[in-house]
Amino acid sequence: MRLVLLSPPGGGKGTQAKRLMKRYSVVQISTGDILRQEVQEGTEIGRQAASLMEKGELVGDSVIIEIIRRRLEKEDTKNGFILDGFPRTIAQAGSLKKMLEEMNLPLNGVISLEVSDETIIRRLGGRRICRDCGLEYHLEFKPPKSSGRCDKCGGDLYLRDDDREGVISRRLKVYREETALLVDYYQREGLLYRMDGEGEIDKVFEEIINKLG
Ligand code: AP5
Repeated sequence: MRLVLLSPPGGGKGTQAKRLMKRYSVVQISTGDILRQEVQEGTEIGRQAASLMEKGELVGDSVIIEIIRRRLEKEDTKNGFILDGFPRTIAQAGSLKKMLEEMNLPLNGVISLEVSDETIIRRLGGRRICRDCGLEYHLEFKPPKSSGRCDKCGGDLYLRDDDREGVISRRLKVYREETALLVDYYQREGLLYRMDGEGEIDKVFEEIINKLG
């Protein structure tokens, strides 16, 4: 199975990608996770990306396309992959198409998760992540037992820099201006599945599985 997950920030790409990965025994490729790792390791890419990510801006196409090219060449993608957060621009989508044609690995589909701005602000504003083990919480939907502490390892819970109020609105604007164009692009390619992303996590997952067959 080779899929692209498309949604506004906080639309549920990462959440559904992890479930789909298990269901189809394929790898999840999240450009956001790859970039955060580069930032944490203080690499050249990480240094360039950090200030853009903090402000909710997109990292340059050439950097991202190169990251994906290298990732898709790895052996573990042969069974399939879930692209989470890539492509995000028409230029990225065009490069992906070319790459996959060269590798003879066509996409099975593109899932577009549709979620209102109100839901996004609620989801992202309440998200907290453990600094030590990476486990995710939500102040409203999945609160930790003890405030600010991870249930599993006791680590500190933090708010992602780009989950701050002003940055969320910038991310939404960037999504509308750049990434939303991909909905029409993939519709024309005959690959698009539009999904309501507002329901409960398990329900959204079931609907995706039903669509994909
Ligand atoms: P990235 O990490 O990809 O951020 P994003 O797209 O904004 O996505 P998020 O991870 O915030 O949300 P998500 O859609 O995965 O939702 P999730 O499942 O986590 O990118 C970060 C930055 O990196 C970008 O801003 C950009 O700077 C850069 N970047 C990355 N890729 C790039 C690219 N291709 N080109 C250029 N720059 C790039 O869910 C969010 C929350 O909601 C969680 O708490 C979750 O538990 C909850 N939730 C999910 N689904 C539900 C549900 N159905 N009901 C209730 N709660 C739910």
